[in-house]
Formats: sequence, C-alpha cells, structure tokens
Amino acid sequence: MRLVKVAQSRIAEVLGPGDIAIDATTGNGVDTAFLARTVGTEGLVYGFDIQQKAICATGELLCTLGLKNRALLIMENHADMAHHIHRRHRTRIRAIMFNLGYLPGADPAIVTRTGSTLIALEKACKLLAPGGRIAVLAYTGHPGGQSETDEVRAMANSLPDNYTVTVERPSNTLKSPPELIVIDRLA
Ligand SMILES: C[S@@+](CC[C@H](N)C(=O)[O-])C[C@H]1O[C@@H](n2cnc3c(N)ncnc32)[C@H](O)[C@@H]1O
Repeated sequence: MRLVKVAQSRIAEVLGPGDIAIDATTGNGVDTAFLARTVGTEGLVYGFDIQQKAICATGELLCTLGLKNRALLIMENHADMAHHIHRRHRTRIRAIMFNLGYLPGADPAIVTRTGSTLIALEKACKLLAPGGRIAVLAYTGHPGGQSETDEVRAMANSLPDNYTVTVERPSNTLKSPPELIVIDRLA
C-alpha cells in the first residue's frame, strides 16, 4: 500500500463522524477530501496551505465530491494554525495530517521548511485531543527533505510520555524512501 494510503488508514482508526480534523498541507486536496468524508456531515476539517493554487485545487475537489461544506480552507502557514481554530473546536481535534514537501506539478521551491514544520508540529501536538492522532508523511528525496524528516522524527521522539510515536518506512523499495511518523496522544 502506498504510504499516503497507510497514513489515511492510520487516521481512520481514530477519526469518526462529528469529529474535528486538520489537514496542515492541503495540496491537491486528496487528504482533505478523505478527512471530510470521514468526519461526515456533523464534523469539520480545517485545511491549511500557503499556496493559492493548492487552496483552489482543494476547493474544487471538495465541490466535485459534494464535501465543500465540511471544510474550512485557509491560505496560511500551518505554523499559525492555532489562531484559526474556533474556541469551541479546540478540545475536539482528533486528527491532524501533514504531507510534507512540495505540491506535485507545481513550483518545487514552494516546499515545507524544517523551521515552520517543527513549529506547526508543536502546535499540532498541543491542539490534539487525548485519544487523537497526528500523521506526518515526510519525504527524503528533495533538497532539505532528509534533514526535515530527521528533525521531525527527533522532535516526535522527544515528546513527553503521554504521546507515543511509531515510524513506518518501506524498506525494500526506493533509494530515498518516505517516512510516516504517527504520533498518538494518550492523555
Ligand atoms: C506534498 S503537498 C500536500 C499534498 C496533499 N496532502 C494532497 O493530498 O494533495 C505539500 C503542500 O504543503 C504546502 N506547504 C508548504 N509549506 C507550507 C506551510 N508552511 N504551511 C502550509 N502549507 C505548506 C505546499 O504548498 C504543498 O501544497
């Protein structure tokens, strides 16, 4: 199974109808659509991306799938995500997805950067409700990708005891395999 699908299946284990979720990197909207489908008509997805192109692509995909009213799309750095979450949702966030790197087919210079990724991940860990899960899909093949992946893993591994971390990586395929870092908040 492709690691994007593995990330979604890990999230599906903890997310359900009526929940609140965050897509920290909407890109073309594939994960946002997955989250919107999973939270159902009573739930909500906050989607962040710094590119207009990504926000538009995600909006169009959601419209096509009839999911537009389940998502709030925000053109903003995910390091600032906390400012955009409504007060009444702050204790209800069950899932947060990050798909790092750059938007396929777009400018590869617009890419997630270690500094803001780590700030966003720290915010995400605080926002996550007990019982919730963060999935970070990190890529190692582009410039800066390996160090970003290493730093994200190191930050996750340094979280306090009420978080658990698992890392999945295909071991038999690519020269620069992606990595899925899953963080669970226990309490
Ligand atoms: C690999 S793509 C995401 C793919 C997406 N999950 C999908 O399903 O199509 C990474 C995205 O992260 C966005 N991005 C880069 N830096 C960001 C930041 N600081 N805050 C929010 N989004 C960012 C890029 O614009 C790009 O669209």
